[in-house]
Amino acid sequence: MGLLLEGKNILVMGVRNKWSIAWGIAQAAYKEGAKLIFTYQGQREGESVKELISEMEGTEACQCDITVDSDIDRLFETIREKYGTIHGLVHAIAFANREDLLNDFVYTSREGFAHALDVSAYSLVAVARRAKDLMTQGGSIVTLTYMGSEKVFPGYNVMGVAKAALETSVKYLAANLGPAGIRVNAISAGPIKTMSARGIKDFSNILEVVEKKAPLRRSINLEELGHTALYLLSGLSSAVTGEVLHVDCGYNIMGI
Ligand SMILES: NC(=O)c1ccc[n+]([C@@H]2O[C@H](COP(=O)([O-])OP(=O)(O)OC[C@H]3O[C@@H](n4cnc5c(N)ncnc54)[C@H](O)[C@@H]3O)[C@@H](O)[C@H]2O)c1
Repeated sequence: MGLLLEGKNILVMGVRNKWSIAWGIAQAAYKEGAKLIFTYQGQREGESVKELISEMEGTEACQCDITVDSDIDRLFETIREKYGTIHGLVHAIAFANREDLLNDFVYTSREGFAHALDVSAYSLVAVARRAKDLMTQGGSIVTLTYMGSEKVFPGYNVMGVAKAALETSVKYLAANLGPAGIRVNAISAGPIKTMSARGIKDFSNILEVVEKKAPLRRSINLEELGHTALYLLSGLSSAVTGEVLHVDCGYNIMGI
């Protein structure tokens, strides 16, 4: 078998630093021959992303704040001009206001609720709509979710609601875009230490419980997420769409 993603242009959204899940996925995709285009939120993230990708030949990074429509339009216009077609998109973006993760869920503000859902769920719809016009040979869109959409995890709060919206968006997008040969799936990742995870106040406790209770008695690593994303981005999963695939050492099957 040749390289899994040879000749594929893949847009990777959500690298912040070397611990980012999107970076784990990008490294796996690059090794399998993909040509990568990165986005970063703002100047600070841009510096770190540019440093990370400096050794990845032929890759580039563009600024895109996912809450700003003109940023998204400019990004896809640049990609259309430079690459014409894309074959894959990795969406690994989420955000909730700090106070909405620290206080009880019942105190979530209207603004905090709307903002978390805008950045963490609507953003997938916004990018899928633009990506479909460039996925002229079909494509694969992969997003990242967490089991906090299905069950209560203390401190995950409004992010759990946003992930539920994201997972249902995956299904509606899969149904809309399937006739064009575009697949849309989510990876439900087990807890892994990243900058975003640090914002969840009970994160170390969650990690400890998972390591004790998951059938495999551990949590996951970035490489394992990269490998799952390779499966979803490549032809290996050509008949899989609208799925939420748990990559969590089996934790989700446990009742207690
Ligand atoms: N770390 C975990 O335990 C875990 C588990 C399951 C799912 N996830 C999900 O994985 C995804 C990636 O998170 P991560 O853990 O790698 O953390 P991370 O902090 O490295 O990545 C989050 C990214 O979202 C970006 N982002 C936030 N607001 C943005 C905006 N307005 N515009 C553009 N980009 C914006 C940040 O710049 C950052 O690159 C998220 O969707 C997260 O919910 C994480």
